Amino acid sequence: MTSERIGVAVLGFGWMGQAHSRSYARIPMIFADRTYDPRLVVCADTLESRRVEAVESFGFETAVADWQEAIVHPGVDVVCICAPNMLHEEMAKAAAGAGKHVFCEKPVGGTPEETARVEKACRDAGVITGVGYNYRFAPLVQYAKKLIGSGELGTITNYRGRFFSMYGADPLGLLSWRFKIDQAGHGASTDILSHSMDLAMMLNGPITRVVGTGETFIRERPLPKEGGTHYDRGHPDDPTGEVTNEDYFGALAVFANGSRGTFEASRAIIGPESQMAFDIYGTEGALGWNLETMNELQLFLTGDTATGYTTVRAGDRLPYHGNFVPGDANSIGFEDLVTIEDYEYLSAVAAGRKHVAGFDEALEWVSVQAALMRSWESGQWEDVVSIRED
Ligand SMILES: NC(=O)c1ccc[n+]([C@@H]2O[C@H](COP(=O)([O-])OP(=O)(O)OC[C@H]3O[C@@H](n4cnc5c(N)ncnc54)[C@H](O)[C@@H]3O)[C@@H](O)[C@H]2O)c1
Repeated sequence: MTSERIGVAVLGFGWMGQAHSRSYARIPMIFADRTYDPRLVVCADTLESRRVEAVESFGFETAVADWQEAIVHPGVDVVCICAPNMLHEEMAKAAAGAGKHVFCEKPVGGTPEETARVEKACRDAGVITGVGYNYRFAPLVQYAKKLIGSGELGTITNYRGRFFSMYGADPLGLLSWRFKIDQAGHGASTDILSHSMDLAMMLNGPITRVVGTGETFIRERPLPKEGGTHYDRGHPDDPTGEVTNEDYFGALAVFANGSRGTFEASRAIIGPESQMAFDIYGTEGALGWNLETMNELQLFLTGDTATGYTTVRAGDRLPYHGNFVPGDANSIGFEDLVTIEDYEYLSAVAAGRKHVAGFDEALEWVSVQAALMRSWESGQWEDVVSIRED
């Protein structure tokens, strides 16, 4: 039995707001060792239909249109920010100012400067922070980290990271907030390269130098409809608007351990559907993982008698997997990673300790992103320098 109740406010009830809400609700059914029970106190969304759904289908105690009301609700301990990026800074600062712990979907704001300001505000307020880099929690990614950390792959020589998604490949895909610099901040770099490079730094350590370039391939899109997302489609005769951030970003990187990295992210590519993937190569072995087949890891060890990669299947011998399904090769999915992330974050809040990834890890990525933006402008290699505000 648990005693502590952690009251949660969810701001923004679209894809990720709903995913986190489902996760909080099922933590008691999945993690018997928890020391708390989450309580869905209040949901804030500007769309009435979403507020109704939050209360009637998800079990929130109440739902409001004005997110400021949700933050100051006396039953709220944690604010989970799942609104479009341009709202992250204001919401996170207000939540920290009200003494609430803050979980914010990645990348925390839309630009490196916004992330740095939010990180400082939350550090000054002394609240526990979390950022939605959910792929860190995939059981096979954790296993990869263990193999790399224990030296099984030898000395790491190179890393290949990519996030290729087709969500923006159709020119009739709606001009949702993601395609506007004043609403999302930067494009593919902020949205999906952030995941790829965050994971690279978790697995292979800090990045010290970068060179990069971006491009926008689809420059006009049909105007969005209320509640529409980046997966919705318009019609050829719909009015259109301008895309104001990049579809693609590619980069070369030097890691502090001397290894080299290549990275690509595109939201407008044909072929890979959601290829959030990495390959890492060392002097004794190599491994590769891809979200599209997230229950498999490709592993090559030079000591093996047979040559070639072996497919390692996920199973309950790995961290977290057995909380969802027993045995080997019974699969878990995307939203299970969100549930693990939420369980770990709320466990940190209950224990009063730092959570990883928190806003200081978010800051590590945006410091790299700031260097990439300078490089895109200058056409030169740039050093990564921390943009932490003192
Ligand atoms: N970690 C991941 O894998 C992952 C995946 C998708 C999105 N994200 C992040 O999650 C965040 C949300 O993305 P999404 O895809 O869920 O977006 P979405 O467009 O599906 O949902 C956004 C919601 O916010 C609501 N909203 C807009 N203005 C608001 C306001 N002023 N007050 C309250 N609610 C408001 C909208 O009505 C909508 O319901 C983004 O920061 C995005 O980068 C993370």
